[in-house]
Amino acid sequence: MIRFDILSLFPEMFVSPFDASLIKKAREKKILEINVIDIRAFAEDKHKMADDYPYGGGHGMVMKIEPVSRAIASLDPQEGDPVILLTPQGESFNHKIAVELSAYSRLILLCGHYEGVDERIREHLVTREISIGDYVLTGGEIPAMILVDSIARLVPGVLGNAGSALGDSFSEGLLEYPQYTRPAEYRGWRVPEVLLSGHHREIELWRKRESLKRTLARRPELIEAAELSDEDRKILEAIKKNDIS
Ligand code: ADE
Repeated sequence: MIRFDILSLFPEMFVSPFDASLIKKAREKKILEINVIDIRAFAEDKHKMADDYPYGGGHGMVMKIEPVSRAIASLDPQEGDPVILLTPQGESFNHKIAVELSAYSRLILLCGHYEGVDERIREHLVTREISIGDYVLTGGEIPAMILVDSIARLVPGVLGNAGSALGDSFSEGLLEYPQYTRPAEYRGWRVPEVLLSGHHREIELWRKRESLKRTLARRPELIEAAELSDEDRKILEAIKKNDIS
């Protein structure tokens, strides 16, 4: 069971992404709970202002601290509960961080907006800042959805087939091997014979080789960091020497 509390100025954005597919099923099975909180509901002035002009001037609006602080306090966070700000200035999100965060029973996600958030929010209210990549979105809502999706699928019971998160790209630090399904031939494009052979050891070897080949071609820096067995290293050497096509 994992619970996400998401603080946002646009809670309506979360409705349909979390009401489909495996995320919906996991919520129905009560393995996953998603609670979206409208920050504006915690603004106490009559205009329900959640943002304001920046001190010192400049363009754009800045998210105010009081509504965010009250919204977080309403969740009664416990010592150790991560409070994560989604911002392009955060550490880059990856599989390792997803695994780490999937071990918590509760995560609080704060979606940044406008030109930024009052710096005191970063300093005093959040425990971690995460970016989903080196580009800027209109807000932290889509990044929060990406975190929920990638973390939730690592929680036992969320994926139908318990083994399916294990073979994922990145789970062993490598990209996944190519997959095929029926028909065995389409417009003359054939599925590799070995996959039709029923030889499990051969299939396993082929998959490992393809995974290494693909990672070497597309993301060579992952090979450097991956934990490879002696057999993997031999296969890799053969690929590099072009012994294996
Ligand atoms: N908000 C805007 N852009 C973002 C990004 N790349 N990652 C996380 N939050 C964001």
